Amino acid sequence: MTAQNMDELVALCKRRGFLYQSSELYGGLQGAYDFGPLGVELKNNLKAAWWSAMVHERDDIEGLDASILTHPAVLRYSGHEATFTDPLVDCRDCKKRSRADHIVDGKCPFCGSTSLTEPRPFNLMFKTTIGPVEDGAEFAYLRPETAQAIFTNFKNVVDSTSRQLPFGIAQVGKAFRNEITPRSFIFRVREFEQMELEFFVEPGRDEQWHHEWVQRRLDWWREQGVSSNHLSRYDVPEDERAHYSKATVDIMYQFPHGVEELEGVANRTDFDLGSHTKQQAELNIQAQVEANTDSTAKLAVQDRTTNQWIVPFVIEPSAGVERGVLAVLNDAYTNEVLEDGKSRIVLRLKPHLAPIKAAVIPLKRNHEGLVEKAQSVRIKLQRLGIGRIFFENSGNIGKSYRKHDEVGTPFCITVDFDTLDSDTVTIRDRDSMSQIRLACDELPAYLIDELQSKSSI
Ligand code: GLY
Repeated sequence: MTAQNMDELVALCKRRGFLYQSSELYGGLQGAYDFGPLGVELKNNLKAAWWSAMVHERDDIEGLDASILTHPAVLRYSGHEATFTDPLVDCRDCKKRSRADHIVDGKCPFCGSTSLTEPRPFNLMFKTTIGPVEDGAEFAYLRPETAQAIFTNFKNVVDSTSRQLPFGIAQVGKAFRNEITPRSFIFRVREFEQMELEFFVEPGRDEQWHHEWVQRRLDWWREQGVSSNHLSRYDVPEDERAHYSKATVDIMYQFPHGVEELEGVANRTDFDLGSHTKQQAELNIQAQVEANTDSTAKLAVQDRTTNQWIVPFVIEPSAGVERGVLAVLNDAYTNEVLEDGKSRIVLRLKPHLAPIKAAVIPLKRNHEGLVEKAQSVRIKLQRLGIGRIFFENSGNIGKSYRKHDEVGTPFCITVDFDTLDSDTVTIRDRDSMSQIRLACDELPAYLIDELQSKSSI
């Protein structure tokens, strides 16, 4: 299992419509990718699985969908303006820039020159102007993490839901980082999506919850079809941790280009809520809107039994959607030699992630009776709400099977001439390639059961 190298995955993604280089028509925009017809389905399915596990299946996490444009003050007081930087060196000969930690033996990675500048901090946040004037006076940041909007909305969520500790706020959305060297396909890109949870706990319980979340997140990745053999954990040493972190465990994955971070699980302590609270107090903004008690100015929770105000600590599992897509694609990719000596590429995706759940194929292309029956089967299955059911009218059954193996479609349903007499169809299983014949009436229940049982680990 897994691709031999990144090129195999890139080729499959382009050929079958998972991913395209952004602005390809004009030479491409570095560090940006577009999800094609199947890519968007896979990505949405991965995000839906995360949302379901985080928000729907638990009863202690609320959701949020905040704006991407962020007030500069938020990112000033979060520490990002001052510290969200990479050290950068310029090559005096070829004029290209590199990250200081990518320089080996003091040589420019592009031209080999040793004439390099001293490292300088380079802020990774994108700025954009607000309103029609472009003199830079009014600007906003494109958020570099979804987390800050969770912190700045903390009081809104607590006030509107009456949550007590421990509880979490989850968000899935775009984030932007002006990476100096985007690389490794969709692994390091400038525009990407995060699936972030901020889980608020009593100070003193943070280490226990940190441990708990690392375990839960490892389990979740396994449930998405990522093999334990490709997962590992890395206790991030202090000098590599973000400015807000007391402890971080990275969940590492064996990507085709090497072992790198798939998800970070950080103990952010009360760094962010504390910092925003302090700035609020100093700016006296809260006092203008609420004059009730001292506690209203704090991003804090009042314990109902003790009446104490607590500024919680926060545990943050933060996963990259693109990295997740790359990991599940890589783990699912199989180049299989068959009994007859031929080979096939099959994406053994968990059915809940598969872009297409079933393809309905009339045996003969454009045969009126077969096409009409296949369309009616497709519509009936589509209405079950189990995801996309695809009408495949290629007329070549072998080619259709190969295509749907490659894109991970769990089932192919063939409508043949017997169907017209007996109202039965054949169902082919992607993984075993075995086929059974089933009455059309039994199809919906069969499909629901099979998709569900094959999705669980
Ligand atoms: N919120 C953590 C990160 O963006 O890395």
